[in-house]
Amino acid sequence: MSRPSPRSNRRLIHDSSTIDNGREGILRLSAVEAHDLWSQTYDRIANPLLALEERTLEPLLPKADRAFVLDVACGTGRWLEKLMRQGAGCAVGIDLSRKMLVQGRRKPLLERCLVQADGSALPVRTCTVDLAICSFAVSYVRELDGFAGELARVLRSGGALFLSDFHPSGYARGWRRCFRHEGRVIEISSFDYSLHDIRRVFAAAGFKRVCEAQPNFGEEERSFFQARGKEDLFAQACNGPAIYICGFVRA
Ligand SMILES: C[S@@+](CC[C@H](N)C(=O)[O-])C[C@H]1O[C@@H](n2cnc3c(N)ncnc32)[C@H](O)[C@@H]1O
Repeated sequence: MSRPSPRSNRRLIHDSSTIDNGREGILRLSAVEAHDLWSQTYDRIANPLLALEERTLEPLLPKADRAFVLDVACGTGRWLEKLMRQGAGCAVGIDLSRKMLVQGRRKPLLERCLVQADGSALPVRTCTVDLAICSFAVSYVRELDGFAGELARVLRSGGALFLSDFHPSGYARGWRRCFRHEGRVIEISSFDYSLHDIRRVFAAAGFKRVCEAQPNFGEEERSFFQARGKEDLFAQACNGPAIYICGFVRA
């Protein structure tokens, strides 16, 4: 029996409408609603997932030297800023959350590079991008095949695409996409794409997979848990992959 397409087996982890679940004290929000709130603290509160991703992804990236780099769902421009420092020739970041972009535009290098747009309808010319990154956002995308097709459209032949995200197995281990806002836990609505879905959808869109990593937290992240008084959770959190990274080349 063939496996259903990601479109048909896609499961929304939480309803995208706002549900105030008073019993658990958790407010569940859509990706845009949630990130508008998270924008206030996103760059200030150290996050071990981002630290693990940076130390794993950075050595895999090609040189940004004079390249046209596109950061899809750039948030406050974490990766775009790094790539500009590495000498990117042209840099564009797009995101749906206006408030994440407002924070990003406060960074001098990013003031003029950020555009509010949907990753599934990129305001970028066809076959122009040398390097695209989409970090911690694939599981917010409703139609993965349209999203992959849009990235395939804008990348030039031979251009590189890197995806990173929360590892799908994290959900089974009880991990949730949460952050704290004004004393409340906010949980973000997302879709549970498997790695198999991602590999297959991007291959169908014309991408060749060139690298993949599924790292666990390591000693480098222990201090993040200590700082939050959660060192007791560290050993358990190390017990399985925390994130994945997939690198592709546009065929
Ligand atoms: C967890 S943040 C990651 C931000 C940044 N890439 C980083 O790694 O620091 C996820 C971002 O995805 C954005 N997002 C979600 N769905 C999107 C879509 N369809 N198009 C563009 N941005 C989207 C959200 O607004 C949010 O800023």
